[in-house]
Parts: sequence; C-alpha cells; structure tokens
Amino acid sequence: MCGIVGVTGKKNTVEILINGLEKLEYRGYDSAGIFVDNQTGEDYLVKEAGRISNLKSAIDDNIHGTAGIGHTRWATHGVPSKFNAHPHVSEDGRFYLVHNGVITNFSELKAQYLKDVNFVSETDTEVVVQLIGYFADEENLTAKQAFKKVLSLLEGSSYAFLMMDREEPETLFVAKNKSPLLIGVGDGFNVVCSDAMAMLKETHDFIELMDGEMVVVKPGSIEIENKNGEAVSRDSYHVEMDDSDSEKGAYPFYMLKEIDEQPAVMRRLLSEYVENEETVKIDDHILNAMKAADRLYIVAAGTSYHAGLVGKELFESLANVPTEVHVASEFGYHMPLLSEKPFFIFLSQSGETADSRQVLVKVNEMMYPSLTITNSANSTLSREATYTLLLHAGPEIAVASTKAYTAQIAVEALLAKALGTVTGQAKAIDYDVYHELTAVANAMQAMVDEKESINDLAKEFLSETRNAFYIGRGIDYDVSIEAALKLKEVSYVQTEGFASGELKHGTIALIEEGTPVVAIITDAPTASHTRGNVQEVLARGANTITISTESLANEGDQIVLPDVSDLLTPLVSIVPAQLLAYYTSLNRGYDVDKPRNLAKSVTVE
Ligand code: F6R
Repeated sequence: MCGIVGVTGKKNTVEILINGLEKLEYRGYDSAGIFVDNQTGEDYLVKEAGRISNLKSAIDDNIHGTAGIGHTRWATHGVPSKFNAHPHVSEDGRFYLVHNGVITNFSELKAQYLKDVNFVSETDTEVVVQLIGYFADEENLTAKQAFKKVLSLLEGSSYAFLMMDREEPETLFVAKNKSPLLIGVGDGFNVVCSDAMAMLKETHDFIELMDGEMVVVKPGSIEIENKNGEAVSRDSYHVEMDDSDSEKGAYPFYMLKEIDEQPAVMRRLLSEYVENEETVKIDDHILNAMKAADRLYIVAAGTSYHAGLVGKELFESLANVPTEVHVASEFGYHMPLLSEKPFFIFLSQSGETADSRQVLVKVNEMMYPSLTITNSANSTLSREATYTLLLHAGPEIAVASTKAYTAQIAVEALLAKALGTVTGQAKAIDYDVYHELTAVANAMQAMVDEKESINDLAKEFLSETRNAFYIGRGIDYDVSIEAALKLKEVSYVQTEGFASGELKHGTIALIEEGTPVVAIITDAPTASHTRGNVQEVLARGANTITISTESLANEGDQIVLPDVSDLLTPLVSIVPAQLLAYYTSLNRGYDVDKPRNLAKSVTVE
C-alpha cells in the first residue's frame, strides 16, 4: 500500500514522477505529493489530498527539476489529508522523505528524541524524517550516516523509504524492509519505484532489493549495502511487459477490461502450460515436492483465498491429496497442527501481500517447501518461496480482482491435473484439462457478451438496495463468497455469501420484502436443495436472481451458463457476478476501479 517513485538525472522529473504515480495509484489514493530539486535553490514541494488528478492540477507547469520523489498514499497513521500527505520534511527543511509501510515504534522514538519538535502531521513517517534531521544536526552526521542510524532504530517495522537531502540534491537515499521497492537502471539516470510498471516508460531493467538493504542512487551510480554495511553487487533483470499493457484503451474502467480479458487469459495459460493439447508442463521439482507431501496448505487473502477454496476441490478431487485453505492473517498467528509433510501454496495476485508473506517467512524458518502462484514475477512471495508458477494474466490494475481470480483457479486445475497424473490418479489421468479449459474460455466469452442483460438485472435488483445475498452449495458456495466480496467492495452494498442450507439456521431473518438474493446453481447433486432455498426466500419477499448451468436450468432463470466441467464451473459462474458488481457500482455513480478505503496491494499486516 502506498506507491513511491523517485528519479535522478532526468530533465523532465515532474512528468516522470506524475506518470509513475498514476501507474501506482492502485496502491492507494488518499493523498499524493512530490518533491523536486529545482536547481534554483527554490526546491518544490506540492501535496494534495485525494487523487493524483488533484496533485496534477496543483503543479506549476514551469517546474523542471532533475531529481525528485513522489508518493501516493493509503492512510495508516493519520487521516487522509493534505497535512498527512507525503513527502514529509524535517523541521530545518533539509530532508524530504516518502514512505510505504508501518513504523511500529514511532511513538517511543518520538518521545525519546523529538520532544522539542513541532510536528505538522500525525504520521509515523514524519517521526522518521525528523529523527534523520535530529541526528544529522545533533551528531553532525552526513545524510547517509543519519539515515542509517535511524534505520537501525526501526525494529520490526516495515518500510520502503526514499529520501532527498537539499545539500546533495542529485542523490536518492533508499531503504527497504518488508515493503516492496525496486531500482530502475537507466543510461545517465536512475529511478526508484514500488512496482516496475511505474517506470516502464523510462527503463525495462530493474534491480530488486532485499530486506534490510540501503541504497545510494545517483544519476550514474547505484550503491547497495546490506544491513551489516557490506557492499552488495546485484545484476538487474529485464521486464518484458510494455507500458501500454497497463493502459485501459477504449474501456471506461480497468475492471471491465479485465473481466473481458478472462477468456484470453484462459487461452494464454493453456499455451504456457500445456504441450500438444495434452501434457501439462509443470517443473518436475514442483511435482516431486508435492508428491512427497501428505497435505497441501493453501494460504492467501481476500479473493485469492476464495480461489484457494476452489483449489481445495480441485486438488482433493483430481490429485486425491488432502488440502486445507487458510486465511493468511489468521494462519500466521494461530497456526493449526501441521501434518508430518506439509506443502504450502501461496496464492497472491500481487505477490506482495504482507499477511501472506509473514506466513511464508515462518514456513521458511520451519524449512517446509512452498510454491507461490502469482501474477508478479520477481515479487517478494515469488522470490522467497521455493517455487513459483505465474498466472500470465497481464497487469491487473482495477482494485477489485477479477482475471487474477480465474487465472488462479485455472493454474490450480492445471497443477492438480499434473500432480494427479504423476501420482497415478485415474480421475486426473482421464481429465482432459486442455479441452475443459478451452470450453471454459468459450463459456466465459458467452457470459461477457451478455453485458447488456446483466446490466438490466443490476439496474432492476441492485441499484437501490442496502443489502444482498449470494447463495450456493459446494463449489457454488465458494463462488458465492467471492461474488459477495466483489459486489460489496465496489458498490458498498452490504452483501453476504452464504451456504444456502445455512440460511434457515438464522440468517433468513434478514430477508424482507425486496431483499436481493442471487442463487448460483451449477452443482447437480445439490441443485434441487438450493432451488428449495430459493423458494423459501421468495416466500419471504426476496427478489431472486438465479444463475444456473444449461443442464440444470429452470424456466425463469435469469442467467444461464453454458455447461462446463463440474470442477470448473466457478470460472464461468463468477463472470456474471463480476459484471453485476461492476454495473451496480457504475449505476450508483462510484469510481469502479478505486473503491473507497481500499488499495490493490496490501503491504501492511
Ligand atoms: C479483492 C481483492 C483482494 C485481494 C487480496 C489479496 O477484489 O483484490 O481481496 O485478493 O488483497 O491480494 P493478493 O492476491 O495480491 O495477495
């Protein structure tokens, strides 16, 4: 959360910073700011509450610095406001700092060293920059020495820092612990960013940083030190992605573009992972490690956790291996009794989710094997797990995850097929995953082509309501929870996903005249039971929408999905639910891509 950018050695610094911040706005949009060395002695600091567009309109077109830093904020300490916006400045006006992360001991440090300082914000970040100013002054330290001294005091904190010193205006001081940060390598210039996407216009070559490292970046040099002060040399890696991959083109919102891209993502995954339309290509090391395990533990957050629930069905059914699915923020601190030979699977679109990462750190300490399934090569979870599989979904920019969810399920299906095949499970051997996923891609396409009728349903049933329910059983229950999250996060309609059978054990009390209830019916053995539950809520005044598969459809079902393999129905049934969420948000006049209070990459615990 929070996006940071920096550049040194370029003439159009302001433009580079703003372009970078726009690409990082998914990381938070409570406020934004930049600081630019203007090379006139009058350095330029501007901050605004709200979106980057507010910052942009406040910037003087005549400012052209050669070095600068910028920040887009997701508030942790202190309300979203101009005062709390970054960069923060030391009292003497010498040091400027932007930060992504949480400083856990900021109150103690403030009380110990900074009693006489007048603070202008409520943030933990300001304590850090004031401390740097304090030590530089009190102990007559250079900027680098003061920066390092303060870093050594930030026990247990998470941070990506980018600092400038007015006395060394071409230098960027950089440090990272737990929060993501990259150095982009240029010719005669260098850049710093939370995510490579922010700087693809400037460079495609990046250096990753490890926890505890500090870097001094100048136009012609990058000096990395580890936490013991030893120089580190590290090669850059090349990012293939194009700047235009993260544009929304003719679409009004990224969410709609990303929903539409799902059939193509399915096809891309087939070409990445399946040979001759038959053999799933998964590294033998991964399959051998999974084969040796007696239980799989899927750990994830939010939508990725929901994809994990479907993964459990796939691994148990195709590979016949017991699988548990856990919410990362719970698992790390309340770890269940583990089996003798566990294998961990981390599902994460961003590869940066702090809740998942803290579990991975513990898993590594216990020396258990792990696999990260992610959309972001070179992300923290990818680097730190034993193995990685990529989602190949292309950048997902809308805060609400859509194509990453379906890509995660598809990769789980491919992996379950491959694992079950090597362990000799008849069901996996017979499972024609190539043709099943091809059918899914076609069925998804049929659903995205139904936009107009789905928008009509959204208008009729969801545009005015305060609350709503999704219900289903088995795999349809897994989808109901994800469908409910999608609707609530972008439209602010309080929505619950429920196992249909559970409704009558309490929650049915909430059904009143006009309450929307969306039933998902793709699971043949339980279809008639869910139909019964639909009747129960209808009898109490609910407005129902039924999403069913062709072979289970009844007259009057509003959304009918083409039939696909039983295990893969979530990939298709989620699409109308994503569209219902999208149109409800749009019809209510919200910013679909940037729902309130959220950020795309959740890098604080
Ligand atoms: C919801 C959503 C979130 C993420 C969650 C985990 O639409 O996107 O619930 O799924 O924050 O993020 P990743 O997958 O990046 O670990």
